[in-house]
Amino acid sequence: MSTSVLFVCLGNICRSPMAEALFLHLVSVGGVDDRFRVASAGTGAYHVGARCHPLTRQVLTGHGIDPVARARQVTRQDFDTFDVILAMDRSNLHDLRSIAPAEPRARLALVLDPVGGGDVPDPYGGPLADYERTFALLRPALEAWVVALSAAGRRPA
Ligand code: 4NP
Repeated sequence: MSTSVLFVCLGNICRSPMAEALFLHLVSVGGVDDRFRVASAGTGAYHVGARCHPLTRQVLTGHGIDPVARARQVTRQDFDTFDVILAMDRSNLHDLRSIAPAEPRARLALVLDPVGGGDVPDPYGGPLADYERTFALLRPALEAWVVALSAAGRRPA
């Protein structure tokens, strides 16, 4: 049984594609990639079809990680096709809740919840250091999500 995870930010070119690629990297290194389906999307439609931001790509490749996503917008269907939807900040979470069906299959949470909650600040328009900070914030949170979701998906023998 696999667990599906959707990472969501505003534009889907900076934070959520970074989270998607880093999460994929972590599950691959951990040998549990077959247990996960991973994607990302934006609440806004500004950059639909675009590759992720050059500085997101630079940070990822600097850490030996391949960027993956093309930007797309969240759909109502996502709430019923993903198990977990992880928002980068409270504004994203608010926007998600405002379009969610009444009883979504997906569990909605902040990506930083396992490490105390709060927002991943939007690095858009900022320098490379802001994107490195995004990566540094995401890493321990995503490591915690991999552990939590790997355990949740495990069936007793
Ligand atoms: P993201 O950053 O939500 O981390 O992808 C943004 C990218 C683009 C815009 C806003 C945030 N924008 O307004 O175009």
